Amino acid sequence: MTGLTGKRIILGITGGIAAYKTAEWIRALRHEEAEVQVVQTEAAARFITPLTLAALSGRRVYGDIFSPEDAELIPHINLARHCDLLLIAPATANTIAKLAHGEADNLLTATALATRAPVLICPAMNSNMYLHPATQANLASLREYGCLIAPPAAGAMACGAEGPGRLPEWRKVREYIIAALTPQDLQGINILISAGPTYEDIDPVRFIGNRSSGKMGYALAGAARQRGAEVTLISGPSALPDPPAVTTVRVRSAREMAKFVQQKAPQARIIIKAAAVADYTPSAPSPHKIKKGAASLELKLTANEDILKSLGELKGEKPFPLLVGFAAESRDHLVQGLKKLKAKNLDLIVINDIGGSQSAFANDSNQVVIVNRQGKKTELPRLGKEETAHRILDQLLPLLPGP
Ligand code: CTP
Repeated sequence: MTGLTGKRIILGITGGIAAYKTAEWIRALRHEEAEVQVVQTEAAARFITPLTLAALSGRRVYGDIFSPEDAELIPHINLARHCDLLLIAPATANTIAKLAHGEADNLLTATALATRAPVLICPAMNSNMYLHPATQANLASLREYGCLIAPPAAGAMACGAEGPGRLPEWRKVREYIIAALTPQDLQGINILISAGPTYEDIDPVRFIGNRSSGKMGYALAGAARQRGAEVTLISGPSALPDPPAVTTVRVRSAREMAKFVQQKAPQARIIIKAAAVADYTPSAPSPHKIKKGAASLELKLTANEDILKSLGELKGEKPFPLLVGFAAESRDHLVQGLKKLKAKNLDLIVINDIGGSQSAFANDSNQVVIVNRQGKKTELPRLGKEETAHRILDQLLPLLPGP
């Protein structure tokens, strides 16, 4: 289950060369169990056939507003009523101009005018056409009318030109879709999240690390962003790409992580520490590679600062960000988690099982127990990390003090 499961999405395709890319989007949406209803303009049908789109979406494709086939259903009203989102992609300069002026001369523009669902527009065209003041003014009007605009990507286009105008990649559009479908209940709230492992250098070649992939912290950053938050992510070494529209700071060691978390903490209203911070670091890392030869080797370690605990100690009378910790446990989960909640003066703790084959580490799903300061315990089922992230944020909302 994801934020797209069961959502009814109308995909309105207009006549641009990028229309072919939306075939893959239909597959991606259906993979996440969204219902996709395609509405095509006449020009779009010249670029991609209704046959392809019907086969991929598993539904007939609507095109002609005057089709006698189901005239009694009044298709544009019927479509407009039964959707959670109208996604228009690629949106040509011509369709954008029509929408900005409230024209309803085809099934897609009529549906756009009739729907109360959010409308997400993905402009795609030659860069000169996109940057033309007329197109920019039309997009500004559409924004004013409440439409969401996913800005085009920049790069080489089919016409040979370079610049903004390409249809964005699916990963980015998906973020916009989820944000459009998600209540903006964290609008403008500054959230600081740490994620991933830390690497503690032994010498220039070796380090002490751990198995954290960063997936949970990145999922939290993405989910908070989807709900309108201003997110800063402090990430230890992770192979994951920066989440869209999130300020991401990459660090390596626990000490570096502490420095950035402490620097950003005063602006935050929520601090979530999903990082698996190393508890110890080599006391005297070698500037040169340690050579073999000795029969045994001892490594002296020094305790790192507990970043979360230090933050918890700063809590006093005046307003302080909500503090959320994670507890990675392989046994006595609840007891250990509650100990950390108290010892680190947290508002909420997310207790994770890191033992066995279902370990939360590096997995796409996890099963967590959330406990708040008042002792309220919420056990979540095994879920994808994006869904788990949203459920954690749901638990945080009621704890947020007023602005
Ligand atoms: N944490 C931290 N700084 C550290 C160690 C941990 O900020 N030096 C934070 C983690 O980001 C997490 C919480 O503290 O939110 C608990 O981390 P965890 O590794 O589960 O526990 P520890 O406190 O390190 O205790 P132990 O390793 O003994 O279980």
